[in-house]
Amino acid sequence: TEPLRIALAGLGTVGAGVIRLLDTNGDLIARRAGRPIEVVAVSARDRTKDRGIDISRFDWVDDTAELARHPRADVVVELVGGSDGPAVALVRAALAAGRHVVTANKAMIAHHGLELARAAEAANAALKFEAAVAGGVPVIKGLREGAAANVVTRVYGILNGTCNFILSKMEAEGRDFADILAEAQRLGFAEADPSFDIDGVDAAHKLSILASLAFGTEPAFDDVAISGVRHILAADIAEAAALGYRVRLLGLADAGPHGLFQRVHPHLIPLSHPLAHVTGSTNAVVAEGNFVGRLLFQGAGAGDGPTASAVVADLIDIARGEFGPPYAMPADALAAQPAADAGER
Ligand code: NDP
Ligand code: HSE
Repeated sequence: TEPLRIALAGLGTVGAGVIRLLDTNGDLIARRAGRPIEVVAVSARDRTKDRGIDISRFDWVDDTAELARHPRADVVVELVGGSDGPAVALVRAALAAGRHVVTANKAMIAHHGLELARAAEAANAALKFEAAVAGGVPVIKGLREGAAANVVTRVYGILNGTCNFILSKMEAEGRDFADILAEAQRLGFAEADPSFDIDGVDAAHKLSILASLAFGTEPAFDDVAISGVRHILAADIAEAAALGYRVRLLGLADAGPHGLFQRVHPHLIPLSHPLAHVTGSTNAVVAEGNFVGRLLFQGAGAGDGPTASAVVADLIDIARGEFGPPYAMPADALAAQPAADAGER
């Protein structure tokens, strides 16, 4: 059988994780996918960097954009990051060349998701981004497929592993914010610019993707009211604990009579609520559907292994010829409604 051939852009935390995963579980994956999944070409900034993996067996492509035209690739995997710049240029070029695309880039999907999905549909190619929301947790599949029969009225949860890691460690160990952020960066959880994590922007990217899938609307990142965790002190967390609460950064999207309402901010969560017990880089997403009731998706939200797991799950779908539904769920009642003014409620 012909392998599914991959051109991989980005060899950082997630890109190197994908190569390690394919090296470790390749035989099992080939059986499950019906054919081997084989990386043929890679690209990053620095060819000489020691990444703890052997990249000499792959074609090295200096210019990331050239991967889109790699003659042997069926799929381009984009793990560079950033809402604009080389990532989006590569993905546009790959779709225009009829290549399937898998990405973990929530910033790009939040800003350009609909345009890219249309390009994918026009090219009859897959655009898959399971890893973009909640790392290893299959929440995109869960919403688009598991909840497909429902009107979803609300989606909310802990969407940023770095912030949850910081808040739960401040609470358990009384350590400094900056010291714990540095640990999250060492573990590969944080974005290249960690202010995206601690200022709530990364959670807002993910929320706008979830909301668009749940409610059949265009991703509306600019409509998310955002407040991060940068100014939270150990004393705030201790005071909340004394009152029976934990502090967690939540993203929430509601579909109500006034349209879609999206916000990201720190919440006081009572100890009786399951989200109060989510610690470390774990993410947890709740979706409420009119027939299924409340669904909870929970698991590792960041890091090389979990994120690579979601990227490779998308590759397995493509190897099997399962490209997934179009970008949004089938249009529902909200699709034509404007976003609510974030200041109103
Ligand atoms: P890293 O910063 O670890 O890796 C980024 C990679 O992209 C590096 O290999 C880097 O090259 C390469 N790169 C950066 N800029 C350029 C450029 N201009 N041209 C070519 N290559 C470039 O990021 P992550 O692996 O952590 O994240 C990758 C993507 O996955 C991002 O979109 C991120 O948001 C997303 N993601 C990350 C998760 C995580 O836990 N880390 C979880 C879920 C999603 P070099 O190594 O040579 O410097
Ligand atoms: N920086 C992100 C986080 C990575 O901490 O959640 C996973 O998307």
